[in-house]
Amino acid sequence: MTVTIVGSQLGDEGKGALVDRWGGDADVIVRYQGGDNAGHTVVQDGDEYKLSLVPSGAVRDKIGVLGNGCVVNPRTLFEEIDGLRDRGLEPDVRVAKRAHAILPYHRVLDGIEEEAKSDSDLDAGTTGRGIGPTYEDKAGRRGIRIGDLLDPAVLRDRLEYVVPQKRALAEELYGLDLEESDHADAFDVDALAEEYADYGDRLADGMAINCSRFLYARRQDGDRIMFEGAQGTSIDIDHGIYPYVTSSNPTAGGAAVGSGVGPTVVGQGEVVGIVKAYLSRVGTGPLPTELDTNDREEELADFIREKGGEFGTVTGRPRRIGWLDMPMLRHASRISGFTGIAVNHVDVLAGLDELKVCHAYELDGEQLEVMPATTEEWDRCEPVFREFDPWPELDSEAIARTGYDALPKGTQAYLEYVSKEVNAPIYAVGVGPGREETIELTNPFSTNA
Ligand code: GDP
Ligand code: IMO
Ligand code: MG
Repeated sequence: MTVTIVGSQLGDEGKGALVDRWGGDADVIVRYQGGDNAGHTVVQDGDEYKLSLVPSGAVRDKIGVLGNGCVVNPRTLFEEIDGLRDRGLEPDVRVAKRAHAILPYHRVLDGIEEEAKSDSDLDAGTTGRGIGPTYEDKAGRRGIRIGDLLDPAVLRDRLEYVVPQKRALAEELYGLDLEESDHADAFDVDALAEEYADYGDRLADGMAINCSRFLYARRQDGDRIMFEGAQGTSIDIDHGIYPYVTSSNPTAGGAAVGSGVGPTVVGQGEVVGIVKAYLSRVGTGPLPTELDTNDREEELADFIREKGGEFGTVTGRPRRIGWLDMPMLRHASRISGFTGIAVNHVDVLAGLDELKVCHAYELDGEQLEVMPATTEEWDRCEPVFREFDPWPELDSEAIARTGYDALPKGTQAYLEYVSKEVNAPIYAVGVGPGREETIELTNPFSTNA
């Protein structure tokens, strides 16, 4: 069976914590989209691991797979693997030969395209990792795949075709003086061919796989597979708040396409939506429930930001804060077909003077229970709030030991409301960042789905 973990909101919902927890019951953990734009935090025995590319299960001695739907920066990959080795771990990471490689020029172009877009307020506030430009090249059939790095002649052919185009884009369209900049090497065929062929050598040593075939064989052997979504539903390229999105499909459909495991298999398994008990986001774009409009709200946002550690894992940027948005969650649950949800960060909301949830939106005099399809309409949505009774500070470890019934009644009412509205049972509740600070109601690997 398979378990798919999906971000329900805008990323950073605490997916890493649940992948880590349930990943203990999996044999293989697969990332199916995105790249080193993700930042997943895993806390084990007081040690914190921040992973961008290596699947979170790698700290659990599982096989971590980067599927064909991923974009892989080999520099980050090997830095991260070597960093984990320095900390005494032996991560077993496999990379799909069909995954696309991020090259240094993708990062440079990510930065200069964002700057160009910012004049029209269309910049997405990207992580600057070259994600969008790499997926563009994939769709444009000029990308370089992991399999191409294994053959220096193929790699050189591909580079000789694409690098002059990238150079022209940077110099002629964006006016960058490459020779005067720090980026000359990023557009140099010889330098790239040498560096990336070295990565190819390392990948050829048991890491590069035919992902679909590999996972099929593992399933035949009875292995259990967990799909680890990165990012979140509202920044999905198809279902999110375009253009303030990432360039891949974090939603559950992406698990099939991005790994080569059939949708019938993924669909017979569990699909768990990870929910943060409020909203936070890095990056630009509208956010109807954002706490920002007056001094009192700003103070509240600062409180939640500090308490929840709401600073980007990848970039360190302070995250924007908002109340929980139910139309966003209903949208997420429908698109991925959640069979269960995990609600994290309920401890962060403890001790507030007021607690609100956006139950619906008002748009042009009408009440909407789901997100509208255009971002312009979403921007015009006014939240229709419901008030909940705030709960006192939690003794998280004691509550996690005792279980759900130990949660204050107000917290339970909040959680049950969310569960009812998204039409999916609660599988887990996060009351703190540590592995022991999660209340588990259902382990998705135990449901025999
Ligand atoms: P991901 O990108 O979805 O994996 O989430 P991140 O790791 O980027 O951000 C989530 C942050 O919240 C991390 O620092 C986690 O350790 C932390 N976290 C996860 N669950 C909880 C929770 O229930 N309560 C609190 N206070 N922190 C949590
Ligand atoms: P995890 O997996 C939160 C956001 C960026 C930006 C937009 C596009 O940790 O939840 P990109 O670099 O992907 O082209 O940026 O998407 N973004 C994330 N926000 N969590 C993430 O990952 C994100 N990955 C990308 O801030 O708004
Ligand atoms: Mg994150």
